[in-house]
Amino acid sequence: MRFAVMGHPVAHSLSPIIHQRFAEQIGKRLIYEKIEIDLARFEQQVLDFFNEGGSGLNITLPCKQRAFAMSAKVSERSAAAKAANTLWMEAGRLHADNTDGVGLLRDMNRYIHLAGKRILLLGAGGAAHGILGHLLLEKPAELMVSNRTPERARALQLAFPMANCCAFTELAAHVKKNAYDVVINATSASLNGKNLELPANLLATKPFCYDLAYRCDGVPPFVAWARTAGSVAVDGLGLLVEQAAEAFRIWHGVMPDTAPVLNDLRSG
Ligand code: ATR
Repeated sequence: MRFAVMGHPVAHSLSPIIHQRFAEQIGKRLIYEKIEIDLARFEQQVLDFFNEGGSGLNITLPCKQRAFAMSAKVSERSAAAKAANTLWMEAGRLHADNTDGVGLLRDMNRYIHLAGKRILLLGAGGAAHGILGHLLLEKPAELMVSNRTPERARALQLAFPMANCCAFTELAAHVKKNAYDVVINATSASLNGKNLELPANLLATKPFCYDLAYRCDGVPPFVAWARTAGSVAVDGLGLLVEQAAEAFRIWHGVMPDTAPVLNDLRSG
């Protein structure tokens, strides 16, 4: 069986290693490759992969929305995120799912349960959109979406009326009134190695911090900043392993054991 992850860039993806480890657990042999996306012909690349006998594709940045748009049958969670990261063919039709939200919650639940918590979600792009619905299902006491560009946070809030929204510049005042228990960084700043311009009082009460991003060479800047301020802060490596496990379950019908794979990746 042949699988692959498609991304742009894709060279540093850990997905092949993770899926091979899962396959070993159930004694299955498979091929799992990395395919660099050609942005001008992404849809054709996907169709070619399946026409040539491929069994399943993971899609990473920046084409999760295009993967969703081209699929004939989409799961509920993929429709909610308007993005797909897991594709396969069934009865000649392209099927799509999105395992990012469930992957995030499974990883976060190792550290904290979100029910009744005050959550701050930083960012209002595709990554934030993909997880917002899942966060609300956990029944937090409050979910605030904050973005550098306020119009984008407002647009996201329209799609999820149960969330509140504000600009980064308004955050200090909100924190003063009521501190957050959990801060999740869903901006793409970490991927670019950039620091966010956030108010100093945000971490005064040492909220639990989570960055959706991870880096092969150390921790994302947001995680480093939060740890310096005394917070427990975690990068998105666990999310990567958990979303892969859910994709593996969809394709192979077996839920793999994520803990040993995550431990090995963390210990390098
Ligand atoms: P993705 O699909 O990865 O979410 P995106 O849709 O381009 O990518 O969204 C990027 C998000 O990261 C946006 O919320 C963006 O904020 P703006 O809407 O203000 O652009 C945020 N972002 C990226 N770099 C940032 C930075 N240096 N500081 C603050 N926010 C940043």
